[in-house]
Amino acid sequence: MKNYYEIENLENFTENDLKSIKNASQIIKNGGIVAFPTETVYGIGASIYIEEAIDKIYRVKNRPKDNPLIAHISSYEMVYNIISFENKIQEELFKFLANRLWPGPISFILKKSDNVNYFSTCGLDTISVRMPDNKIALKLIEFSNSPILAPSANLSGKPSCTNAKDVFFDFGENIDFIIDGGNTPIGIESTVLDLHLLDINNPNIYILRPGFITYEDIKNEIKEFLRKEKNSCELKNINVIINDNLIYKDDCDLKLNNKVLSPGIKYKHYKPSSFVILIKKDIKDFIEKESKIFTSIKEIIEKKLEDKKIDNKEIKESNDSNEIKIWVLHINKSFGNNIKRIFEKIDKILNDKNKKEINLIFRLINFNNEYELAKNYYSTAREGDKNGIDILIIEGLEKEGFKLSLMNRLIKSSDLLL
Ligand code: TXA
Ligand code: MG
Repeated sequence: MKNYYEIENLENFTENDLKSIKNASQIIKNGGIVAFPTETVYGIGASIYIEEAIDKIYRVKNRPKDNPLIAHISSYEMVYNIISFENKIQEELFKFLANRLWPGPISFILKKSDNVNYFSTCGLDTISVRMPDNKIALKLIEFSNSPILAPSANLSGKPSCTNAKDVFFDFGENIDFIIDGGNTPIGIESTVLDLHLLDINNPNIYILRPGFITYEDIKNEIKEFLRKEKNSCELKNINVIINDNLIYKDDCDLKLNNKVLSPGIKYKHYKPSSFVILIKKDIKDFIEKESKIFTSIKEIIEKKLEDKKIDNKEIKESNDSNEIKIWVLHINKSFGNNIKRIFEKIDKILNDKNKKEINLIFRLINFNNEYELAKNYYSTAREGDKNGIDILIIEGLEKEGFKLSLMNRLIKSSDLLL
């Protein structure tokens, strides 16, 4: 592959690595688009100053035109060039947070400066900025000598890519260059924190998307800020607002004065082709809800079998029309065992009723904790699609800390919440 380069050691670049990042930055400067790793997920980048390149990103991703991109920067000089503060308190809080959390998995929304064209912000007067914690990304931005606008590197609506192979699968030669920096360690996108409405009359900041830096982390940061810094507004309190809808509903436009704060929220996201069932944690007693889970899963299996029958009639093939492949992603062993028991029951009923054999192929995939699930979720969902998995069942998590952030993605990618 001509447009691909792999970097093995992120801590110690070889001369060829640096040459290749330089080459990629030249592509960016010339109006091309480049995929690169960050600590969260892969991004596809273009120079913030080249409209045709930005347009190309929207085209290859098939991304709605009103959904703005995050500006990735490698230095404070770069960020101060593209943002502006409405008041002293915004400036003080931004400096405090960025200083403590950057480079890292958090994007801040502030007013844009006049140096940034409205084209680059989808017509908004705000911009979201992030200094990623990945040496390849930072070098690429530095060599490009320009902030790099980059959405996650996936076809719009699909799960984000956490490795270069998945990026290539979605885009192939439609991207001018791909830098492979291995698997991304976090696996879900950055926290998006809106600071641009903060002022003395509105002491609020808004989490538009939770991430590795959690709601609780931000609340603690605010506590520290109020304790340590002498803030010019003498604010005693700053509220960290996270809309409950972000966590448990899909139609969760976070609005203020009727203005949608985060345009991206209204679109379907992170969706594999398989039918995704997420089983909420607030089902206190699995056994108590077992009959509901049983009925729902059975119905979906029957519907899938029906669909396959119709499809097969049309294409006159009969190979796997009686086969349903199911993967179960879970952390707790007991969850896996409970689902397995339900399947055994369904299997028995379906095969008793029908004379034909129905083959339920069932696989349990166990993760040690929420971090491991987050790191592997998108790539596992994508692998499931490649393997023709019909149904993906996921064990839901509690609504706190990093689990809440991961739940936000799982809910958005699911077809059925039980
Ligand atoms: O971790 C990440 O953030 C990755 C890596 C590549 O940095 N990027 C990423 O970008 O996830 P994307 O485009 O998939 O998500 C950006 C989110 C969208 O929900 C978008 O609506 C929101 O940030 N956003 C960007 N600029 C905004 C703005 N000015 N106001 C409100 N929301 C904004
Ligand atoms: Mg995205």
